[in-house]
Amino acid sequence: MCGIVGVLGRHEVSPGILEALRRLEYRGYDSAGIATVNNGVLDRRRAVGKLVNLSDVLVHTPLPGKSGIGHTRWATHGAATEDNAHPHLAGRVAVVHNGIIENFRALRAELAAEGIAHQTQTDTETVALLTALHLDRGMTPVAAARATLARLEGAFALAFLFAGEDDLMIAARRGSPLAIGHGVGEMYLGSDALALAPLTDQITYLEEGDHAILTRAGVTVFDAGGAAVQRGVATIRLDAAAADKSGHRHFMAKEMAQQPAILRAALAAYTDATGTALALPEGAGFDGVDRVTLVACGTGFYACQVAKYWFEQIAGLPADIDIASEFRYRAPVLSPHSMAVFVSQSGETADTLAALRHVQGKVARTLGVVNVPTSSIARETDVALPILAGPEISVASTKGFTAQLQVLMLLALQAGVDRGRLTPAALADHLSALRALPGLINQALDREGQMRDIARHLAEARDILFLGRGTMYPLALEGALKLKELSYIHAEGYAAGELKHGPIALIDQHVPVVVLAPHDALFDKTLSNMQEVMARQGQVFLIADARTLAAAGEVTHSLTMPEVPPLLAPILYAIPAQMLAYHTALFRGTDVDQPRNLAKSVTVE
Ligand code: AGP
Repeated sequence: MCGIVGVLGRHEVSPGILEALRRLEYRGYDSAGIATVNNGVLDRRRAVGKLVNLSDVLVHTPLPGKSGIGHTRWATHGAATEDNAHPHLAGRVAVVHNGIIENFRALRAELAAEGIAHQTQTDTETVALLTALHLDRGMTPVAAARATLARLEGAFALAFLFAGEDDLMIAARRGSPLAIGHGVGEMYLGSDALALAPLTDQITYLEEGDHAILTRAGVTVFDAGGAAVQRGVATIRLDAAAADKSGHRHFMAKEMAQQPAILRAALAAYTDATGTALALPEGAGFDGVDRVTLVACGTGFYACQVAKYWFEQIAGLPADIDIASEFRYRAPVLSPHSMAVFVSQSGETADTLAALRHVQGKVARTLGVVNVPTSSIARETDVALPILAGPEISVASTKGFTAQLQVLMLLALQAGVDRGRLTPAALADHLSALRALPGLINQALDREGQMRDIARHLAEARDILFLGRGTMYPLALEGALKLKELSYIHAEGYAAGELKHGPIALIDQHVPVVVLAPHDALFDKTLSNMQEVMARQGQVFLIADARTLAAAGEVTHSLTMPEVPPLLAPILYAIPAQMLAYHTALFRGTDVDQPRNLAKSVTVE
């Protein structure tokens, strides 16, 4: 996902914009650039690759000016080249953009008919050229930007800067978030509050369809209908630690280590003072609800897959799960008595947001299980249920996943209570088990050395399988996702019982098979599947508790996990899934926190 920054400052802005872009690096990018207006002259610097390259360019060719916009680009239309990097300049206007202009080809044709040629493959250049044309036709910068916005279709966040206008920046939000920062005699713009944290904690979030006119004196916001509106100023205090590694080698290592404390604090936030009853936000109940629909992408979807077991086993509530990018295209049959739950760490994933908008008005209630309380999904669902994990910087979601699981477990318990399937005593027992879980996670984290030893073997492989049954099946999927997104090794997660229906053809001595098998009702069946692998010289890496290991007999490698109540095994077994991927990536030398091609939140479909 691209990152946008803008500053109308009292001093030279390039250094501050570069620093703000550094706080957006976690979003994933492959080029970057800054444009400034200096005594009315518009100029820019751009570079491919990491921000250090742009910093080098700025050292050798400084970019003066007290007004500027900056951008980190995650390539959608056009390769990661300097020409395609933002800001895009056309005549007297510079533009930075996050999102996709869906009708850019038709606009390019219109401009071509006016004899206006494009220099790049990007949809953003089209925005700049269209705005320049409006300026050339005599429009003011504000009118030119508005005329351009009126022609655009798609999802975007945009910022405009104009030659001759040292005290003007125009911003627009349609589908991608934009925050406005209020300084002292300065004004700022950022894709999120984290980017602006060093500059201000006074933040205004643009609403869907808003555009804003910024000068150093302040901001005027206009809604989708063009009417001037007041948008509140919130104090968003992001502790400085959120954007540093606190002594860890990677953000991912920091965020894995944070899990026990985060889960403990989040549980306390959502239970009563005695810790024996739930205290979820108003609207998170299930009275009158006849089924739950869970929708997400990636890791969030695997959390939903686990939750399906919990809703049905604990509460007897039918649960549908959907990958967000498929959901609205399959014409889902929605019950007006159903609860639709959207799970998203960032709260900005385009497919999940689109799925939410698809169900509005068709279900009893929508609920957002998100990590960013100010995100689009948090704002557009009827009830937001923050997972309270704190900013997650590493592209690979770790604490986001376990915190999502815990909140989904609490929702399943709430459903059990509301549907008369859980007595207060039974609820108290479940909550007591959840309170003990952080201690078990610490024990698992203490086995990092053994996980590293297993990762050493995995790092040599070309293909890897993860197997699990029951709620360990989604964990197998998550383990495979973590491994492939971090180490670039092909990995697949399978329901262990599915192996003999085809995938077993893959097995030979070169294919490591990671088996997740806590001592639950299905462990012996998983061990049988494991034997099928060993009978074909497959290398088995059994991750299980002592009881399962005792029953397993001889295996290639094993990792002993703490005993855990079967219902909570998915949260605990996320730790080896994360750690194996992390250490395999270290052995492979890949970029752990910003793996190639990936973005922290995919805000385009
Ligand atoms: C998880 O490690 C991946 N980075 C990715 O699958 C992610 O979970 C997915 O893009 C959904 O993101 P969200 O939770 O912010 O919606």
